[in-house]
Amino acid sequence: MTTRLWRGGRLATLAGEQGWGLVDDGALLVGGDGLLQWVGPSADAPAADAVVELGGALVTPGLVDCHTHLVYGGNRALEFEQRLHGASYADIARAGGGIKSTVAATRAATEDELLAAATKRALALRAEGVTTLEVKSGYGLDAATEARMLRVARRLAGLGLDVRTSYLAAHALPPEFADADDYIAAVCLWLPELHREGLVDAVDAFCEHIAFSPAQVARVFDAARRLGLPVKLHAEQLSDQGGAQLAAGYQALSCDHLEHLSPTGIRAMAEAGTVAVLLPGAFYALRETQLPPLAALREAGVPIALATDHNPGSSPTLSPLLMMNMACVLFRMTPEEALRGLTVNGARALGLRDRGQLVAGQRADFCVWDGGHPRELAACFGHNPLIERVFKGNRGEA
Ligand code: NIG
Ligand code: FE
Repeated sequence: MTTRLWRGGRLATLAGEQGWGLVDDGALLVGGDGLLQWVGPSADAPAADAVVELGGALVTPGLVDCHTHLVYGGNRALEFEQRLHGASYADIARAGGGIKSTVAATRAATEDELLAAATKRALALRAEGVTTLEVKSGYGLDAATEARMLRVARRLAGLGLDVRTSYLAAHALPPEFADADDYIAAVCLWLPELHREGLVDAVDAFCEHIAFSPAQVARVFDAARRLGLPVKLHAEQLSDQGGAQLAAGYQALSCDHLEHLSPTGIRAMAEAGTVAVLLPGAFYALRETQLPPLAALREAGVPIALATDHNPGSSPTLSPLLMMNMACVLFRMTPEEALRGLTVNGARALGLRDRGQLVAGQRADFCVWDGGHPRELAACFGHNPLIERVFKGNRGEA
């Protein structure tokens, strides 16, 4: 089994619960099993079959984008213009645009067309250091198209990314259903078959006045629980629906968006160990003014993750680095919180404990950046300093 030593880098290991975990002139030993065998100062590094000199470059864990809607047809630039002319996201949704217009375009697209479009997007994320990517369904809203979306998401793993899928059929009410409760029954009915096909890692829903009520979401979560699947929730994005406390009651992996999160919701998330996934791209694009309650989340000890929320409507970005910058400038997160949000806490939001920190035993997924200090990643924007992205995962090579 060959081993490879990467040495002479400035490591931001993110070891422990806080701090950058900096190792100046550090080294990583990667085993043939794709795991980190050893991390520490280059001077103390063990022997290896092959050695790569990092030349003082910055090394961080590979980025984890834990919330995306990467697979879809069409685009929504027209809606962007409509919002600039004063229409709100909710107005557009109520008028049958928004998510529903992407549903029409996605239903009309073949699996290969969806894959070609999603591949370009995944490659853009990969080029900014993403090694693990979550992809949601939710633009099919019928059994066949939801399955097609999830199959396309699985096929993205061929690009050398680790892909996790979330079933988000409870995203909007499709035109063929007049009654939301009837649709929720169908959403619950489709799930076991998709799960049997191995297409679902988690179950998500959109709890909002323009989407589904907590009672409806609870029915979807009950269906997930019957199959032993973890849940997550688009919660309190536009209003406080009490979705966070509902999700926490199901030990949700994460609640996402959260601009209108209440103190009760925060307490429930803290008790359940649910991760708060903040999405500055959607906040920015929708010109939201209500900030997520960052100080209260910190105080309660809720882990905070960050993601692109890439989707054609509210967050058409493919830049995790820009999300770091926006999280700092708009939400006042620290650069360290932003990097933890896109690595170790992003992984936690997917239920993954084997990545996101550069410590022995974790997967050897890491990024090499042109920079000296990790805070530089959050300080810059519109610029990609990635030199190399190493994804070992379970690929069994050194
Ligand atoms: O995470 N909030 C709901 N879902 C997506 C947006 C989907 C869309 O507008 O197409 C989100 O922002
Ligand atoms: Fe989303």
